[in-house]
Amino acid sequence: MKFLAINGSYRENGLNTKMLNLVKNEFLKEGHEFKSLLLKNFNIKRCEACLLKDLKECTPQRCFSLGDDFENIANMMKEADGLIFATPVHWYAPSALMWNLIERMTSLENTRNKIIQGKPVAVISAAAEDGSQSAITNIIVPLIHMGLFILPFGMTYYSGKEEDKETDEYLKRIVRNMIFFASQNSIKKHSWW
Ligand SMILES: Cc1cc2nc3c(=O)[nH]c(=O)nc-3n(C[C@H](O)[C@H](O)[C@H](O)COP(=O)(O)O)c2cc1C
Repeated sequence: MKFLAINGSYRENGLNTKMLNLVKNEFLKEGHEFKSLLLKNFNIKRCEACLLKDLKECTPQRCFSLGDDFENIANMMKEADGLIFATPVHWYAPSALMWNLIERMTSLENTRNKIIQGKPVAVISAAAEDGSQSAITNIIVPLIHMGLFILPFGMTYYSGKEEDKETDEYLKRIVRNMIFFASQNSIKKHSWW
């Protein structure tokens, strides 16, 4: 199976990347593919709030026509059997890069299509000290509303420390549970809306 992480960090080698490297090793050990995208390397324009003009205008096709990397990322999300969102804490919230992507994902949600619906997802985060729980919650709520399936124990975070063995165990649990969930074919066929 194929798994995809989306990293909202502003650095190549920060704590989110460190966590995702562990996650990658776990997926590869189990014989699965894993790709991690560093959002800062992609051009994702701001949401144009088409739905405020006319709800029917907020569609993936319209969003893809902005001519940036969003279509590419949406296609990678569609192909993935499970997703991990990783964000730094910026003022007790997800990074602006991550939030920009969530806003653009409105077009995937608005049409209730199958691009992301029913996919297992986990949300992880890194902070210097404090705020991971609020940043993670901020992401989890829209993802539930967009039809994704938050894994049991599907959240964990680093809080400034370079070593955090308990978080590492959580990351391994996330990989194990995501592989289990993603292998349930009847879940994939179900129409959640
Ligand atoms: C604009 C900005 C705001 C931040 N706000 C917080 C915060 O509210 N709480 C906190 O503990 N760390 C805060 N940090 C620190 C980052 O969360 C921390 O360095 C984290 O490790 C960054 O993720 P990364 O290591 O994956 O790059 C902030 C950093 C920046 C640049």
